[in-house]
Amino acid sequence: MIKRLFAVLLAVLPLAVLASSETALTPSYANINDQASLQRGATHFMDYCAGCHSLQYQRYSRLAKDLGLSEEEINTYLNRNGAKFAETVVASMTPGDATAWFGKAPPDLSLVARNKPGGADWTYNFLKSFYVDESRPAGWNNLMLPNASMPHVLWELQGIQRPVYEDSEGLPHVAHLELTTPGKLSVEEYDAFARDLTAFLQYVGEPAALERESIGIWVLLFLVFLTLLTWLLKHEYWRDVY
Ligand code: HEC
Repeated sequence: MIKRLFAVLLAVLPLAVLASSETALTPSYANINDQASLQRGATHFMDYCAGCHSLQYQRYSRLAKDLGLSEEEINTYLNRNGAKFAETVVASMTPGDATAWFGKAPPDLSLVARNKPGGADWTYNFLKSFYVDESRPAGWNNLMLPNASMPHVLWELQGIQRPVYEDSEGLPHVAHLELTTPGKLSVEEYDAFARDLTAFLQYVGEPAALERESIGIWVLLFLVFLTLLTWLLKHEYWRDVY
């Protein structure tokens, strides 16, 4: 029975690996334990995203606690629309206006880093995958979200990417993107910008992860200690036998 189970597992494993490599994303290397990165990501979010996107579970007071900022710092740097300290991050634009302008209401981003395939890395790749497409209403398209109605709000920073097409089975498809007009940031600087934003959205998706991970380390240390203790105890018990 066990053997058969093993055989099935061995047969299925390569398939699982193949399936996961098909959706290969560039790793973001976002680190939610890097508080400076989270602070920068939060500022980028308020500067460039909060006009359209809300974070319906994220309170400013919780941001202060987790990002190591005072209420005054939050109000000076992050709270842009005079919300109360205990309130959540609300988009400046109403969903109705947004739908009228973009054809689609910008979704709440509280959980986006959790519910996309590839987790937070999806957001990182999304932010790097905008390209010029004159056939789209806003003039932009995105490799990660084909026909996305979000304009490339970071184009001045990243610059302008154009698609390079390749024929596959007679149909042209985008092989890769080429930066044809550089932006204010270098490629590395834009990657870092997108990484900080990704780390922030990953943190927002599960603020408790910060605590959970530090508790996890203590649990592991405890287990190591317990193993040592059990081993010593075993020696003690068997001493008379040998
Ligand atoms: C001008 C309004 C606007 C701004 C500013 C904006 N977005 Fe969007 N965003 C949208 C719209 C509209 C969509 C829906 C796209 C679609 O599904 O076609 C969207 C979708 C997304 C999605 C995909 C969500 C999903 O569930 O599919 C992500 C991720 C995202 N935005 C991140 C960002 C980030 C990060 C910023 C700040 C750098 C930002 N957006 C700024 C309008 C905006």
